[in-house]
Amino acid sequence: MIRGRRYDGNVKPSVFALSHRARSAADQPISYLMAEAVANPRLISLAAGLVDYDALPVDETAELLRDLLADTDRAQTALQYGTTEGFIELRQTLFQHLAAQDGVDPEAMPGSPESLLVTTGSQQLLHLLADLLIDPGDIVITAWPSYFVFTGALTAFGAEVRGVDLDEHGVIPEQLDALLAALQREGRLDRVKVVYLVTYHQNPTGLTLAAERKPAVMDIVKRYSIRHRILVIEDAAYRELTYEGEPPPSLLRHDPEHQHVALLQTFSKPFSPGLKTGYGLLPRELVDAAVMLKGGRDFGSNNLSQHLLLRAMQTGVFARHVERLRRTYARKRDVMLDALETHMPDGVTWTRPGGGLYVWLRLPESIDTSRGGPLFQRKLSLGVLGVPGAYCYPNDPTRTPPTHEMRLSFGVPGEADIREGVRRLAEAVKTHV
Ligand SMILES: Cc1ncc(COP(=O)(O)O)c(C=O)c1O
Repeated sequence: MIRGRRYDGNVKPSVFALSHRARSAADQPISYLMAEAVANPRLISLAAGLVDYDALPVDETAELLRDLLADTDRAQTALQYGTTEGFIELRQTLFQHLAAQDGVDPEAMPGSPESLLVTTGSQQLLHLLADLLIDPGDIVITAWPSYFVFTGALTAFGAEVRGVDLDEHGVIPEQLDALLAALQREGRLDRVKVVYLVTYHQNPTGLTLAAERKPAVMDIVKRYSIRHRILVIEDAAYRELTYEGEPPPSLLRHDPEHQHVALLQTFSKPFSPGLKTGYGLLPRELVDAAVMLKGGRDFGSNNLSQHLLLRAMQTGVFARHVERLRRTYARKRDVMLDALETHMPDGVTWTRPGGGLYVWLRLPESIDTSRGGPLFQRKLSLGVLGVPGAYCYPNDPTRTPPTHEMRLSFGVPGEADIREGVRRLAEAVKTHV
């Protein structure tokens, strides 16, 4: 089975006169790691951010598709072009889904189904929002570290990406305040356009922004929105994959006028990334501009996926699948935490995520986890991969990323491979402590 492509990590010089945008598009270092895993089947990859193959809803999708195509009217609508903003019935259902997750009636929810857009993965919506707001030299504030695919794209847009520290309760509001105050003193507050936060089981650390911190974050953003509104992109990609307790309400709950928060979610993690369908509830003043930009690019995301996902939600297939995933991933997380406890030497610490797909490992500062460092080669020779932590930090011109951390994912490998992968990793680490 082909599950990837060979990638040598080099960007080939082009005989074409590439645009500035193409030339500044960041190469994703993680593609190299993924290709390495494909090329070497003995390798246990704790690097890939993909979901569990065996937990994908194969039978459910076959049945949903069969039912959908058996209804000629529905089938013809689904196989036709849809609308730029997405299938309205799905948008209405997703609006209710967001309200239910926040524990409120849809009537009490800020916004409306009309301000909810369905996109080609949440990645497309992240990109659209950046395109709507960012000129070169504008500032985006995010966590330190953060979801590097998006922060890399922001850098390619010419944004100055600034990082604010996280602790076990998520991003630290006092630091956000201090950074905005410093930018104000420098006369650069007008360049701050976006605060981007992965608020549930963050990629890469697994940390969640605590409910108690959310009002403070919103107060700060509102206070510094002086000449224009600062947009808060709340990327809740892993919200449904919560294994312990109830996930806290979204930042949107603290933005009752819906002036600042774009709340983004996706079907990729809780159902299937192959359907590549994400969505977001935007402040209404951004909706028309976002739809226009999207219309000029694709005039609609995959319509068949949208019809299928609506059926999945209406029939309860989606909710049952999420329940199953929670049990599967909770077990895999426990296996990883247990293996770390068993094998890692003193001086190594890690996060204990209540959901998502990632554990963040901190090694002694003397151990360099980067691709050029000795640990990386040792890991490869022992047959295990993790993501070097430095890849996960935004390109903040004022800060230097630490080089002694690593992102581990329990998404793809089975329980036996997680155990063996962590054992190999610990063996590699022990040769360097
Ligand atoms: C934090 C975060 N946001 C967004 C995405 C994009 O996912 P998709 O475009 O498949 O919805 C990912 C994918 O890994 C992610 O980790």
